Amino acid sequence: MNNKIIIINGPNLNLLGEREQSQYGSISFGELKENCINKSKELGLNIEFTQSNVEGELVNIIQESIKKFDGIIINAAAFTHTSIAIRDALSIFKKPIIELHISNIYKREEFRQKSLISDIVTGGIFGLGSNGYILAIIAMQKLLEK
Ligand code: DQA
Repeated sequence: MNNKIIIINGPNLNLLGEREQSQYGSISFGELKENCINKSKELGLNIEFTQSNVEGELVNIIQESIKKFDGIIINAAAFTHTSIAIRDALSIFKKPIIELHISNIYKREEFRQKSLISDIVTGGIFGLGSNGYILAIIAMQKLLEK
């Protein structure tokens, strides 16, 4: 049976292509979703691609993922730097988790240089633009085939 993965996107990522193109590039959220679905199909993964601007909804999605998915790829966006609730929910997920950022958060403002989830995830990708999503899917497929 195919492994099932979920890509969880946090606040404002729905505005990709419109917001701060110098940081996040010109690809739209819809195009990114389509690229991720295509790559996952190519690698034989079932994928759900989701986004919320609401912290509690993201916590609910992570909790529901425990039973439904084999791996989580998460761009928690601004909540990366603030949310103990998202960190706690991710800690309950005992399968691979990849933290993802489009921009290099360590090259930006000081408040972005701290991630509350880096030390509990399997690994991370940052600063490689929206291609990071494709790289994360490839990495997840390798983690799950082991
Ligand atoms: C981001 C970086 C965060 O600091 C920011 O709040 C985002 C996007 C990224 O993908 O580079 O919304 O997670």
